[in-house]
Amino acid sequence: MINKSDKVKHINIAIDGPAGAGKSTIARLTAEKLGYIYIDTGAMYRALAVYFLEKGTDQDDEAAVSAAVKNADVSIEHIDGEQHVFLNGKDVSGLLRTEDVSAAASKTSAYRAVREHLLMLQREQAAKADVIMDGRDIGTAILPDADLKIYLDASSEERAKRRLAQLKEKGLPAESFGDIKREIEERDYRDMHREVSPLKKADDAIVIDSTDMSIPEVADEIERLLEEKRSVK
Ligand code: DC
Repeated sequence: MINKSDKVKHINIAIDGPAGAGKSTIARLTAEKLGYIYIDTGAMYRALAVYFLEKGTDQDDEAAVSAAVKNADVSIEHIDGEQHVFLNGKDVSGLLRTEDVSAAASKTSAYRAVREHLLMLQREQAAKADVIMDGRDIGTAILPDADLKIYLDASSEERAKRRLAQLKEKGLPAESFGDIKREIEERDYRDMHREVSPLKKADDAIVIDSTDMSIPEVADEIERLLEEKRSVK
């Protein structure tokens, strides 16, 4: 018989921080280096946003969103190391990165029913493997006992620069630098000031400011911090 204490305790790393700080790139790289699974929780909120957009749910109407979310089943699978997000059985991974979906995810992720809808899915993923999970409330609400918590930050100026470079690289139409920076700051404000699970540094999180750091430098620092944590346990 397996009792609770026999369960394998997996390593959980939580990375929170504002949009564009480099969380997903760094989490993906670190997961690859350590052989962990990368869980992108933003993609789950984005999948729900796809559902609300498809159904025409009024995003400003919390009661309507809260009722609609009950019919949206989100699940994830890892295929060749990449996370795929399924919405009511359909792989919607390719639909998540548009501006409409970003805006809808930012709005609807503020509602309690939406956050509660994803809570168990996120915790289940962390319980069954060594994971690096990124989002806004991973260290504060989803995995309060994570082995390592990182709050990854960067100036809004630098984050806007990175976003602009990304759009250009993909050959996508880019707005002006000023517009991108303003959108980033608006999204920060919404994420940090919502009532339910706002973005904030967990008391025991370590802040890494990536403004003047390269991606490999940040990944190395996270590995070093993990080593340090594990050696004092
Ligand atoms: O990280 P991202 O840009 O893919 O996230 C999309 C939106 O979802 C973002 O506006 C904030 C929200 N989000 C959240 O509230 N909590 C999370 N754990 C992850 C994302």
